[in-house]
Amino acid sequence: MWHHKGRSIPKGGVVQHARESALKQLIRNVRIATMEDGYGLIDQGAVLVDGERIAWVGQESSLPDEHRRGIESELDGNGRLLTPGLIDCHTHLVYGGNRAREFELRLQGADYETIARAGGGILSTVSATREASEQALFESAAQRLQQLMGEGVTCVEIKSGYGLDLETEMKMLRVARTLSEQFPVTVAPTFLGAHALPPEFKDDADGYIDEVCKRMMPAIQSENLAGAVDIFCENIGFTPAQTRRVFECAKSLGFEVKIHAEQLSDQQGASLAAEFQALSADHLEYLSDDGIRAMQKAGTVATLLPGAFYFLRETRLPPIDALRKAGVPMAIATDSNPGTSPTTSLLLMLNMAATLFRLTPLECLQGVTVNGARALGLERNLGTVAAKKQADLVLWNVGDPAELTYNFGANPCYRIFRKGQQTGPGSD
Ligand code: NIG
Ligand code: FE
Repeated sequence: MWHHKGRSIPKGGVVQHARESALKQLIRNVRIATMEDGYGLIDQGAVLVDGERIAWVGQESSLPDEHRRGIESELDGNGRLLTPGLIDCHTHLVYGGNRAREFELRLQGADYETIARAGGGILSTVSATREASEQALFESAAQRLQQLMGEGVTCVEIKSGYGLDLETEMKMLRVARTLSEQFPVTVAPTFLGAHALPPEFKDDADGYIDEVCKRMMPAIQSENLAGAVDIFCENIGFTPAQTRRVFECAKSLGFEVKIHAEQLSDQQGASLAAEFQALSADHLEYLSDDGIRAMQKAGTVATLLPGAFYFLRETRLPPIDALRKAGVPMAIATDSNPGTSPTTSLLLMLNMAATLFRLTPLECLQGVTVNGARALGLERNLGTVAAKKQADLVLWNVGDPAELTYNFGANPCYRIFRKGQQTGPGSD
């Protein structure tokens, strides 16, 4: 059984999923934030779970008689808040080592870009990840995953991108797959081969993009190791022209695309991604009005990463109000990674999105439920409490949904259901 208090997992062993497979269960006497149409609050609510799916949602007093029959277990929520399982739609959870030393250097005055250009930064994590065994990568990522899950995360995106060679990129993506097999969580794996230029291709970025397109992507596709392709489009990453090549190739192989865009400068990456119907464009501190318009037209989600903004002590804010006015859906994610956002708390990101970016508590919760699902193309199955959706639900020791954003450093998670099965805290 995984546990939210950092208990270590058995070495190489199978970590359990859930306890029993209750077929038909009623979660009653709860305040439901369905996340359909705003919070979509239902007081004195109930959710009927049938197997892995939600069968019925509404006010308990109006539960139809035919649904009352055959209920095998009931949970009295005592008026607690029930939400969809949380979705962390942007993480780099699998990596070797850490960058605490780089953090110290930055405290002494070095900046992220200078460190990266000097071969530190992402490339130092690349060395550590290449050296690490698949088992070691699994174990360190499993710890981080359990910390996320302990706060009610039931779906997580995981990127590769610290291998930058086919063998290590595949190793990372196999770890992501193993995590999804060993833990009660949905994993959306993303290939981020174009994260940085590996030492083997120094001064030959186009040559590396060739490798990414012609060799790596087809191999990853043939083993079905990723559903999406991401790229770091930036001065210290890849150019818009290289990004276009990666997107053309990804689309022709049937991948979804997404982008790290406008994090440190405006490269018009978001517009380019929108041209390819990207699921999301992420970071966006330097996003222009043109970029916003393009995203709005394409339905591309703006994924905001307040952890990276905070940790790099950025001062340029993403254009939240313009995104809001344009009706671009906003997601929030941890960006969990060793260089710019070494965190495993999605709840902390809600608070930071409000305090640093001025999102409302409603926008924050939408960012990790309905819009997080959309950023992964999983909105038909996840992200709201609604009949027919997967029964991924979290019961919280709070009454008002704004409390999830208001608190920081606390974990009010009380019960977690994933595919209808109770997991995590309280399930021992
Ligand atoms: O999302 N921007 C590029 N990638 C990561 C950082 C990776 C690293 O520094 O290791 C990000 O911020
Ligand atoms: Fe990232």
